Amino acid sequence: MAEEIKNTAPQNLKVTIDNITIDVPAGTTILNAARMIGGEVAPPAMCYYTHLKDSGGKCRTCLVEVSKGSEKDPRPMPKLIASCRTTVMDGMEVKNITSDKVLDARKGVVEFLLINHPLDCPVCDQAGECDLQDLSYEHGAVQTRYEFARRTFEREDIGPYIQLHMTRCILCYRCTYVADQLTDNRFHGILDRGDKSEISTYISKAIENDFSGSMIDVCPVGALTDRTYRFKNRVWFLKPMDAHRDCDKCCGKVTIWNRGDEVYRVTARKDQWGEVQTLPDGKPAWICNTCRFEKKHTDDWVIEGATKIDRHSVISQGHYVGTIAAPDPLEKVLQGRKPHLLLDIHDESEVNTPQVHLSEIEGPAVGKTFNGDPHASGHNVTDVKIGAGPNEKGTDSTNPNTP
Ligand code: SF4
Ligand code: FES
Repeated sequence: MAEEIKNTAPQNLKVTIDNITIDVPAGTTILNAARMIGGEVAPPAMCYYTHLKDSGGKCRTCLVEVSKGSEKDPRPMPKLIASCRTTVMDGMEVKNITSDKVLDARKGVVEFLLINHPLDCPVCDQAGECDLQDLSYEHGAVQTRYEFARRTFEREDIGPYIQLHMTRCILCYRCTYVADQLTDNRFHGILDRGDKSEISTYISKAIENDFSGSMIDVCPVGALTDRTYRFKNRVWFLKPMDAHRDCDKCCGKVTIWNRGDEVYRVTARKDQWGEVQTLPDGKPAWICNTCRFEKKHTDDWVIEGATKIDRHSVISQGHYVGTIAAPDPLEKVLQGRKPHLLLDIHDESEVNTPQVHLSEIEGPAVGKTFNGDPHASGHNVTDVKIGAGPNEKGTDSTNPNTP
C-alpha cells in the first residue's frame, strides 16, 4: 500500500516514487526527490554532483521509468529518463527499483561503463570507495560481451599532487566542473567525441590552484588519484577521523585517514551519497590543497572523533564506531607488563622504521626506504620493479590489452 511522507520544505508538488509519495518544492529533480525518501529508492548517480552546477545527464545510471507524467497529463513517458535532469510534475509517478525495465537498462549501462574500464581493482587506490565498483556489484552482469581491444593510455601527472589514469575514466565531467567552478583556470577538458573521447590537456600544465585537489574527491572512479597517497595503503586499513584546523583558505573541516599515528591522506568530508558535505551555513565543505596535501601530521589537526562510516562499506571493516572491544588476554598473561617490553619490532626488523613516514615519500616504499634512505621510493629508485602494480611504462599491467 502507498505510504506518504511529509516534508517540512515549502510544498507544492506531489510525486510518487516506488509507491512512496512525497511533497517537494517545484524545480526538484526526480533524483533529489528520491534522495529525500532515501534508501534504495534513490537511483545511483555517477555524474550528477549536488554542489557542481550543470552536472548530470552524462552517465545514464540514474535512469527511471515515469509511469504517469502528471495529474494533468497522465500519459507515461515513452522512454526511460535521466532522473538527475528531469524535474518532478505534480502527480507524477516514477518507478525505480520496482521497474524491471529500469533494472535491465541499468545493467546495460554498467556493461557500457565497463567496456574500456580495466578490472584492476586489486591495484587501484579507489578500491573500497569506488562508485563503479559498488554499481557493478549491485547492478552489473557476470561478464562482458565486448570482444574488442580496450583503450589504453599512458598515466599522466597533473601537477605535483594528482595523477590521471585515463583507462579508468568514465567521462562523467565532474572534474571539469570542479576546475570551472572552484579554480581560476581550467587547463583540461574532454577532447574528441564518441569512443575517442578522453580527458586531456594541457593537463600537464599542472593544475596548481588551491582547490584542484577537489577533483580527486569528485572522481567516482580511480581515474584521478592523490599522488601523496598512491599505493601507500588500502582504505579499509585506515581509520577515518573527523578533524579540523584554522585555515584561511577553506573551511578546514576534513576527514583524516590514519594508520597508527601516521596521517596517510586527508579528504573532504562526504555525505551519505558520497558527495562533499554541506556546511551548516549551506556552503559545500570543499577543502584546499594545503589542508589536503601538506598537513600530514596528527599535530596539525584537532581531532573531533571517529568518522561515521556506513556499516555496509568495506571501509568500516574492523573499526565500527561505538563497538566494545573484547578484553585483551595478553595483559592478563603478562601480568601487567607491556608487550613492547618483551620485543621491540624496530630492533628486530628493518621495516616499520619509525623515521620513515610512508605518507610523505613520493611513491611506494622499497627496500632502500628502510635501509638508509628514508626518502627513497619506487618513483626515484630506478632498479626496482613494483610487484603486480602498474608497470613502469605507466600502462596497466592488469589490462590484458595493454601493449
Ligand atoms: S577523470 Fe574522474 S571526474 Fe574526471 S571525467 Fe573521468 S571519471 Fe569523471
Ligand atoms: S547521474 Fe544522471 S545521468 Fe549520470
